[in-house]
Amino acid sequence: MIAASPGVPAAAPPPPVRPLLKWAGGKRQLLPHIRRFVPDHFPRYLEPFFGSGAVFFDLHSRGLLAGRPAILLDINADLVGCYGAVRDEPEAVIAALRRLARGHAQAPEAHYYRVRDGRFNPAREKRRHDGTIAYTPALAAMLIYLNRTGFNGLFRVNRQGRFNVPAGRYARPAICDADHLRRVSAALRGPHVRLALTSFDAVETLAQAGDFVYLDPPYVPVSRTAHFTAYTPCPFGPAEQARLQQIAIALARRGCGVLLSNSTAPDVARLYDGHPEAVAAGLRAYRVPARRAINARATGRGPVAEYLITNLPERETEPGAAGRC
Ligand SMILES: C[S@@+](CC[C@H](N)C(=O)[O-])C[C@H]1O[C@@H](n2cnc3c(N)ncnc32)[C@H](O)[C@@H]1O
Repeated sequence: MIAASPGVPAAAPPPPVRPLLKWAGGKRQLLPHIRRFVPDHFPRYLEPFFGSGAVFFDLHSRGLLAGRPAILLDINADLVGCYGAVRDEPEAVIAALRRLARGHAQAPEAHYYRVRDGRFNPAREKRRHDGTIAYTPALAAMLIYLNRTGFNGLFRVNRQGRFNVPAGRYARPAICDADHLRRVSAALRGPHVRLALTSFDAVETLAQAGDFVYLDPPYVPVSRTAHFTAYTPCPFGPAEQARLQQIAIALARRGCGVLLSNSTAPDVARLYDGHPEAVAAGLRAYRVPARRAINARATGRGPVAEYLITNLPERETEPGAAGRC
């Protein structure tokens, strides 16, 4: 750290960049535990289940990605399209979002459904091609607006692929924080940041020895009622979880720093907690306390344990970490 000259106040650190979207399985509340395993040195950062990017934005905010390539992947075409538009045309997104905020202030619920059904879904449909959606700033602004004002910030599509989340009930939703949106844009615009619409398997060929790879798949449900897999029409079931385990093992053997989060469902325990191949590759399973956020019933949002599975050494202390289960 460079000391400020006498009499010259030190510049305030830039405000941290939070995720732009609310996202099922977002990892903000798990960050104190995740930070315990972030390595001091790594040439590149890879995150193949990007979602709202809580870990990427945390690493970025703490200056740990400066100059380091980051490869971010997700299979959700809306998410990748929206972040791409925010990265490339933040001012146009902000202008459109401000218009949406004004409309919302007049008649919140009616405005929500007019935007969702009359503008967002038809525009999205028109721009869908071959698994991708060519997001414009207007479409990105609508997704951010629906995400901030819709029920629980969910992203869900019906069988026809139409976004169908009902309106939420927020007294004063924060729809447009222009400065924050510019910071998100700048974080993604770095020359070393690559964001792509690709399945997680690609990480197997992309990752090299020394890379830090954070894997946060859709969780194995801990019970039938806790089931949530509505990010995309593609299922993430036992076959995908088993494939992910094999990739995590392959990356650990290759010399990558691997950190994976998942629920403590018995299927996850079988794949990692004492699994001979995983143990031989140096992967250990830690149970950490967490709070489940996506559940329609408030009673389903209590404290739970989650797994952090890693071959990385644990730091002695990390401020804010609340211990293990
Ligand atoms: C638990 S969320 C990640 C949350 C993220 N860590 C955050 O903080 O917001 C899982 C993500 O995996 C994505 N996903 C689901 N199946 C995938 C696949 N086959 N390949 C890549 N991403 C996938 C979903 O779209 C979702 O964004």
